[in-house]
Amino acid sequence: MSDYMLSIKDKVVIVTGGGKGIGRVYCRELAKAGCKVVAADVDDDGNAETVAEIRDAGGDAITATTDVSDEAATQEMAAKTIDAFGRIDGLVNNASLMSVLERRDWHLIPVNEWDRVQEVNMRGVFLCSKAVYPQMKEQGGGSIVNISSGRFWSGTPNRLHYSTSKAGVIGLTRSLAREIGPDNINVNAITPGFTLSDTQVSSSGDYAKNNAPPSDRCIQRHQYPEDLCGAVMFLLSPGAAFISGQTLNVDGGQHMH
Ligand SMILES: NC(=O)c1ccc[n+]([C@@H]2O[C@H](COP(=O)([O-])OP(=O)(O)OC[C@H]3O[C@@H](n4cnc5c(N)ncnc54)[C@H](O)[C@@H]3O)[C@@H](O)[C@H]2O)c1
Repeated sequence: MSDYMLSIKDKVVIVTGGGKGIGRVYCRELAKAGCKVVAADVDDDGNAETVAEIRDAGGDAITATTDVSDEAATQEMAAKTIDAFGRIDGLVNNASLMSVLERRDWHLIPVNEWDRVQEVNMRGVFLCSKAVYPQMKEQGGGSIVNISSGRFWSGTPNRLHYSTSKAGVIGLTRSLAREIGPDNINVNAITPGFTLSDTQVSSSGDYAKNNAPPSDRCIQRHQYPEDLCGAVMFLLSPGAAFISGQTLNVDGGQHMH
């Protein structure tokens, strides 16, 4: 392993929701940086495409098809990772119900949809963290990066269940960071701004085109998945080992805190 402070070479990293959208870009960029990547999306075909792309480029990756809201599936995800690579250094909790959700007034959200969003977006983060914890503890440390949303800062309307779940991810990040800091595991969150992932663009259509870039963004351009990779890679690196419980905002300077 390289001793360069920001190197993540040879780290074994699971990316939930790595089968498409921003998750696929995380997988690709992590592999380019020398990580051994596990694409853990519920979408099996998506995982296979991500892994094929990485292997074609000479990288190392496997699929672990996982519904993050299912405890047994998350445990299999961890077991498959350990079988293949012998350790787990990083977990990027990126899987989410977002682009598939209709934008509508809060009182029109069906209760079963509300519940499913919390199951995937919050319980999923809990279960995946729980699944990797024994291995990270045993090997002496690790890093968890939770993907929240800029909605936490802005209070954006029209997907109240989603916004609520992403605020919950920040609370989970802070308390979990305190609970597992003694095991040398750091836990942080990032809050992406409105990002033109392929899934966001295809599901949002005109909304995506009409809503970016916001006029109060310091860097006046659209946000793309690649804009998020540096923050995720940094938080997985030895350079961030003493940073925990924090929320790193990545939105071109739209929100400041
Ligand atoms: N795109 C944006 O504007 C934006 C902004 C802020 C935060 N985010 C967050 O960034 C992350 C990635 O965004 P995206 O644009 O690629 O979103 P997306 O909705 O397109 O992708 C989410 C991924 O999660 C997977 N997934 C859904 N349910 C799952 C489950 N039960 N188990 C495992 N995987 C599951 C999907 O198959 C998909 O690949 C998400 O957490 C999202 O909430 C995105």
